[in-house]
Amino acid sequence: MSLPTPSAERLAASDDALRSLPGYSNHEPGEKEFAVLDPSTEERIATLPSLSPEEAIAQVAIAHEAGRAWAKTTPRHRSDTLHNAYLVLIANKERLAYVISREMGKTLAEAQGEVQYAADYVRWYADELLRPAGGYRDNPAGGSTILTKRAPVGLALLIAPWNFPMAMITRKIAPAIAAGCASVIKPAGLTPLTTLLTVELLAEAGVPRELMRVVTTTQSSAFSEAVLGDPRVRKISFTGSTGVGSTLMGLAAKNIVKSSMELGGNAPLIVFDDADLERAVEGAILAKLRNGGQSCVAANRIYVQDGIANDFVEAFSKRMSQMVLGHSIAEGVDLGPVINRDAVNNFQRLVDDAVTRGAELRAGGRAAGDAGYFFEATVLDRVPADADIANTEIFGPVAAISRFSTQEEVLQRANDTPFGLAGYVFTENLDRALNVADQLETGLVGINNGVPSNPAAPFGGMKQSGLGREGSHEGLEEYQEIRYYNIARRETR
Ligand code: SIN
Repeated sequence: MSLPTPSAERLAASDDALRSLPGYSNHEPGEKEFAVLDPSTEERIATLPSLSPEEAIAQVAIAHEAGRAWAKTTPRHRSDTLHNAYLVLIANKERLAYVISREMGKTLAEAQGEVQYAADYVRWYADELLRPAGGYRDNPAGGSTILTKRAPVGLALLIAPWNFPMAMITRKIAPAIAAGCASVIKPAGLTPLTTLLTVELLAEAGVPRELMRVVTTTQSSAFSEAVLGDPRVRKISFTGSTGVGSTLMGLAAKNIVKSSMELGGNAPLIVFDDADLERAVEGAILAKLRNGGQSCVAANRIYVQDGIANDFVEAFSKRMSQMVLGHSIAEGVDLGPVINRDAVNNFQRLVDDAVTRGAELRAGGRAAGDAGYFFEATVLDRVPADADIANTEIFGPVAAISRFSTQEEVLQRANDTPFGLAGYVFTENLDRALNVADQLETGLVGINNGVPSNPAAPFGGMKQSGLGREGSHEGLEEYQEIRYYNIARRETR
């Protein structure tokens, strides 16, 4: 079956955006190069160098030197630079959105939303850095005064995922710049183009280029080993899988490098009988299908209480089956491709396994399209607890629904996972909403809200979903050390 394709006008505009990338080329990759593909077509859209660990260390040296100077700049200067960067990013929204959509596969509308979300981190930190934390208190025993202030942690290694190729970069680099730190940035090999363009625009806005050194490479493990083994690196911020995060923490341990880890999720979304049906369905659609379900905070296990279950499944399945699948930049498309062929094969395996074990297929269920990595928006109802899909991070447009009868039962099931990033509760009863949110073992909870992420809020997980927070004031502190001065005092006359 052929899927909607973009107009010639949109295709040309997106090709222009790609060709405008710094040093753009698109030839058959040589030995030390790699190709970036468009997941809508599987066609090559760019060729990039794959840097060696030695070349990465050369970038560490440049960034380290630049960081020393940047740490001495005034908060006002850093704030003005970031405010200017926000304006430059927004002025280039369409260009950035085309690049995001072509290399990652989210729809153009979603890509535009990501540019705004990403730029909002820059604006938020531009303001926040002007309100430095710090304190003054008297020693309770007398004889001295205690003064605390914040200092930049030093050179940061930022490793970003492919699913939000711009927002996950700005969520790291904006607080790093705000705190006075330089960065070495490794974008995901699947989506490096957005990072290159974002950093180029930040440089145009006045952030020194030496402060943000991007390393594109296919040698991820050797890269991390070399860079984290360099004593000039004092900070790592990683977003990705729990397995890789754990390996990076092991490497960071050698030089006691301050670590922030945004790792895997397995978010429960709970709909109680007393929920507003329409609100719950729309919230669940957002929590499931935002970014094609390719998000650490995507609703992974949908639990619906017996009294509302039939109505919810009916309405939710209807909305899911209305989703128009097609090329990410095509007009009128609701759902683009997923990231690669392995993902498509994995969804098919999970759906087939669940159906074999007794789940009911209510929408979708199959790969689609003649080329590209497409999978239909899919709903499985009455998913049994032993199905693979009930015990894995799906990371795609497949919804796994099961039913429950009591609050106690659903809380036990929701928390029965080593992960704890996001959770969702839909109910019109405020007491229930807060009681359940308090008992969910997750770092963030959406209450009647399918998209809780916000630059002003602390994003991060409990248990094996990570360490530290991004966004908000807490996200700035991840790039800071606390300095404490003890000022001795004696009586004077
Ligand atoms: C993620 O999936 O890693 C981030 C999602 C978000 O920022 O909302």
